[in-house]
Amino acid sequence: MPPILSQCDTIAGMSGSIRKAVFPAAGLGTRFLPATKAQPKEMLVLVDKPVIQYGVEEAALSGVSNIIIVTGRGKNAIEDHFDVNVELESFLEQRGKSEQLEQIRHITESVNVAYVRQGEPLGLGHAVLVTKNLVGDEPFAVILGDDVIDATPPALRQMIDVFERVKGPVLAVERVPWEEVSNYGVVAIDETEDHGPRVHRVKDLVEKPARDAAPSNLAIIGRYILTPDIFPALEATARDRTGEIQLTNGLRHLLTQRPVYVYEIDGVRHDTGNKLGFLKALVYFALRRPDLADPFRRYLETLDLKIGANT
Ligand code: UTP
Repeated sequence: MPPILSQCDTIAGMSGSIRKAVFPAAGLGTRFLPATKAQPKEMLVLVDKPVIQYGVEEAALSGVSNIIIVTGRGKNAIEDHFDVNVELESFLEQRGKSEQLEQIRHITESVNVAYVRQGEPLGLGHAVLVTKNLVGDEPFAVILGDDVIDATPPALRQMIDVFERVKGPVLAVERVPWEEVSNYGVVAIDETEDHGPRVHRVKDLVEKPARDAAPSNLAIIGRYILTPDIFPALEATARDRTGEIQLTNGLRHLLTQRPVYVYEIDGVRHDTGNKLGFLKALVYFALRRPDLADPFRRYLETLDLKIGANT
């Protein structure tokens, strides 16, 4: 187990401006079927931890210890995962398995987790909207657990530092290959203003543009620092043609009322919400594990990488 949470005890107390992180986890995960038919995609395992735990640990390491998870039908495993398992803990205690006991206790002790149901999966914007009462009148973070980011300082911490300087909503972005812009919300930025390294002011946002219509290749990825005025903006946002409320459209609305910024995260992002991205992340994180890296690398080196699906 990497010592990812070992700094938590010292960092968790320094929360500062952002105290709450929302994890929308009520999506259906159709890109990962059949695995996600009876199991939430957030619980797919990267080495030995469910994907969502990487994001929760990132929040804790960034000083944000109040976690709000938006769940839906079939997502009980997420609640069980962050709950205390008395039976398992006393079993491990009796057997003297203190290392494993510490591993499972650390995450439940590092954060407070609250849940809110999204009755129907009506889009990411709607998922954020259902947290309105739990978030209240304060700025907050949104973490899409699918995007697992390896970064030092943690990605969310980098964003909070920017938020504390610019004092407005901050969206994480990444330059993606132009042929992939149509999978993302994409931003047009104001190149004339200087807001510091990796920070830009947003001029416009476009959801999933065609390559030729994209204003840039700066794609919005799964980290946001939002201010509470996003809630009325989302309430005023019409459903799209699929019946969903898109967060990007809510942000466009907000843009008419206040400056919004983007920040290019300094780190390595993996989109684990699709099969290829998940496989890449699995290899990446396994090779960073001190207990697994060497034997795993030796195994990978024995593989005949020329073998194709048709051979
Ligand atoms: P995605 O666009 O990845 O959708 O949602 P999805 O349903 O999870 O997965 P696919 O595309 O069908 O494979 C982005 C994030 O927003 C959450 C998802 O759980 C994911 O974390 N979400 C999406 C909700 O919480 N509710 C929704 O109605 C839609």
